[in-house]
Amino acid sequence: MSIDGSGSGLAGAAFSSKTRSTLCAFDVFYFSNMPTTDGSQEKTLAALGVTQPEQLTALFQEIRARFDAEIAAVHDEAAFKKFRDAWLGRKSGVLSGITDNWLKPATPELKRAVGAGLNELRAHADSQIEARRAAIESGADEFAVAKERVDLSLPGVVRAIGSRHLIRQVFQEIEDIFVSIGFSVVEGPEIETPYYNFEALNIPEFHPVRDDMDTFYVEAQSAGGAKTAPGSLLLRTHTSPVQIRTMEKRQPPVRVIVPGKVYRRDNPDATHSFMFHQIEGLAVDTDITFCDFTGTIEYFVKQYFGPGVKTRFRPSYFPFTEPSVEFDVSCIFCGGSGSGANGATCGKCKGAGWIELFGAGMVDPAVYGFVSYDAKKVSGFAFGMGMDRLAMLKYGIDDIQAFFQNDVRFLKQFP
Ligand code: FA5
Repeated sequence: MSIDGSGSGLAGAAFSSKTRSTLCAFDVFYFSNMPTTDGSQEKTLAALGVTQPEQLTALFQEIRARFDAEIAAVHDEAAFKKFRDAWLGRKSGVLSGITDNWLKPATPELKRAVGAGLNELRAHADSQIEARRAAIESGADEFAVAKERVDLSLPGVVRAIGSRHLIRQVFQEIEDIFVSIGFSVVEGPEIETPYYNFEALNIPEFHPVRDDMDTFYVEAQSAGGAKTAPGSLLLRTHTSPVQIRTMEKRQPPVRVIVPGKVYRRDNPDATHSFMFHQIEGLAVDTDITFCDFTGTIEYFVKQYFGPGVKTRFRPSYFPFTEPSVEFDVSCIFCGGSGSGANGATCGKCKGAGWIELFGAGMVDPAVYGFVSYDAKKVSGFAFGMGMDRLAMLKYGIDDIQAFFQNDVRFLKQFP
C-alpha cells in the first residue's frame, strides 16, 4: 500500500480475507500514528467489481477489521484525533467515502444492503471510538497501564558496590590508633588565610621557609560581587594551621589529630604530588616532654607498620617547633640498602635507604603567644605526617600518582 492510501491491494474478491488482514496489520505497523485508509471506499462498487449484495458482506468485514486493527494502536490523544478524523471526518473520512462512492451511486439491487452495512459499521465505529476516548481520558488504556506496570518477578539490576579509597582506609586506620590513646579528631578549612597557614605558626612574611611551601592563591567573591584582596586566601600547604584554630578554641589539655588534604606547588614524581594528604597531631598540657613525644610516635609506628620496620629521628627545622625533627622509616622497596636489584640506585628513596615520613617537634613557645596560652605553664609536641607516603610504604605502592589516577584495576586491589 502506498503512503497516500491509493494503489490499494484490496481488489475485492481477488484477495482472501486472510491475505488482506495481513496487509492491514502491516498498515498499522508502518503508520501506527497515521490513520490509514485502504482506499477501497474511494472507488465505486462497480470499480471494485461488486455487483451482488453477497459480495458486500466480505467488503464490510474487511473495512471493519481494518478499523479494529487501527483503533487498537491508538493510545494517546493526538493519535486518537487523527484516527477519528480519518474515519469520521466529513470530507475525507472512510465513512463519508463509503456514503459518497458506494451508497449514493449504488444500483437499486445493492443500495439497501450498502445502507444496512454502512449503518452497522457506523454504529460499531461510534461505540468503539467513544470507548477509546473514555479510556484515553481516564488514563485506563491497557497499553498505558501495561507500559507502567512493574514486573516484580524480573531479576533486579545488580550494581557493583565500590569500596573506600585506600587513602580513606589508611586515614581510618591511623585515626583508630590515635583515638585509642586519647586523641580526638578535628578538621579545618582547606582554603586558609596566610595568617593561619604561616604567621600564627611563627612564619612571618619573607621567611625563607615559605619558599618550600609555595602554594595556590585563590580569590573569592561575595554574593554582592565584592572580591577578596589579592593574596588574602590560599590553599593550605599543611594541616598545621588547625593547631592554631584548635588552640584558639580549647584550653589545655589538648590532644587532637587533623586529617586532611593539602596543596603545594610541587612537581609530580613517584613520591610528590601537588595535592596530597597529611595527618597533623598536637598534644599540649602542663608537663609534656620530648619523651612523651617519642613514646607516642614509637607506639604509633609499631601499631601501624608492625615491629619489623626500622625508624630514625634526625634533626630538622620548622619555625613552629623547637627542637624539630624529621622522622624516617627504612625504604621498603630496597630493604634500606639504597640500591635496587640490578645494583642501580633505588628510585624510591633515591639511594638514601630511608623515606621521610613526617616532620615533628616540641611546640615552639612563640606559637603559644598567638593563641593566648601561657608558654611558661604549658608544653607540647606536634607532628605532620605525609599520609600518602604512609599508605605507599605499608601497601608496597611504588608511585604516589596511582592514588589520583582512579584506575579501577589499582583501586580494586584494596577492597
Ligand atoms: C610540614 O608540612 C609540617 N607542617 C609538619 C610538621 C607539623 C612539623 C607539626 C612540625 C610540627 P613537611 O613539609 O616536611 O612538613 O611535610 C610533612 C610530610 O608531608 C613530609 O614528611 C612528607 O611525607 C609529606 N609531603 C611533603 N610534600 C609532599 C608532596 N609534595 N607530596 C606528597 N607528600 C608530601
